[in-house]
Amino acid sequence: MENGPDVSIRDSYGRMDPSEKRAELVRGLENRPMSLPSRYFYDRRGSRLFREITRLEEYYPARTEKAILRNVLPGIIPGMDFRELVELGSGDCSKISMVLESIPEGSLAETRYIPVDVSRSAMETSALELLTRFPGLRIRGIVADFCRQLDEVPEGRRRLFLLFSGTVGNFEPDEAKSLLKGIADQMEEGDSFIMGVDMLKERSLMEDAYDDIEGVTACFNRNILNVTGGILSADIPSKCFDHLSFFNDDESRMEMHPVARSDIRIEIPHLEEPLRIRRGERIHTENSYKYTTGMLEDLAEGGGMRIMRMFSDCRDWFSLVEMEAS
Ligand code: AVI
Repeated sequence: MENGPDVSIRDSYGRMDPSEKRAELVRGLENRPMSLPSRYFYDRRGSRLFREITRLEEYYPARTEKAILRNVLPGIIPGMDFRELVELGSGDCSKISMVLESIPEGSLAETRYIPVDVSRSAMETSALELLTRFPGLRIRGIVADFCRQLDEVPEGRRRLFLLFSGTVGNFEPDEAKSLLKGIADQMEEGDSFIMGVDMLKERSLMEDAYDDIEGVTACFNRNILNVTGGILSADIPSKCFDHLSFFNDDESRMEMHPVARSDIRIEIPHLEEPLRIRRGERIHTENSYKYTTGMLEDLAEGGGMRIMRMFSDCRDWFSLVEMEAS
């Protein structure tokens, strides 16, 4: 008799204190300039909008990363001999499917896939799709914020950690080093880590990628205000904000900011004063760092890792970096 699907999803994110989230968001809105942490982009709608972004003509990182994966995975995966794939910020299953396709058939049944993501809905959809394509795969999902809850990942052996999509670019350089240190601490001899990194390139290419003609990125940027309003039980009129994005040369990063189109007054329960936002004021919602090889070497060193191999496309727009704990 055939065994049923071997899947479980454990929710550790839901256990996080909601008052901690509220305090973090209020702090960001009371500061001047205002800011909101970019992980709040990803509710159900935000995850869907991000998936749409990855299909846009202007958004080169997604298709370039996939092209590199298509080229290199069949050559490197069979030689890596891992038993567990830990994918941080797993999102949809498009990239892990490419990894799984490169695993020799006999080894797939011994492989455990551990996706870690804040979006339970994205994880469920992706698990269903994976099971249809790879019926024997064992999936142990963890709904968690991998920056703060890395210790939720169960101990294991012969593990390959993955961080795709250029997600490392959304961390401040110091935070990125701490994240790598956290991963390095979990790694044992023989474990590896592969991350996708968006590289510094011509300004107009980067700026177009964050301001597409269809306005999907603009909706994504405004959606963080809806998510924030939901958590704070406040009515934040996201339609009254314009989308602003630009490349900041000094910091080597793309920035996104919703900008108030008029003066806005927002009542937030439990706050004595309403929040007042003046016309033209910005809320800093995202940084997306664009790396040079030097910045990558510095990140690896500060994060307790050693770069083993690097794979890029022919224009050096995006890189896959393989590392080991040093
Ligand atoms: C998820 N992350 C790597 C994306 C990026 O490019 O920084 C998020 C994004 N923001 C705007 N477009 C896509």
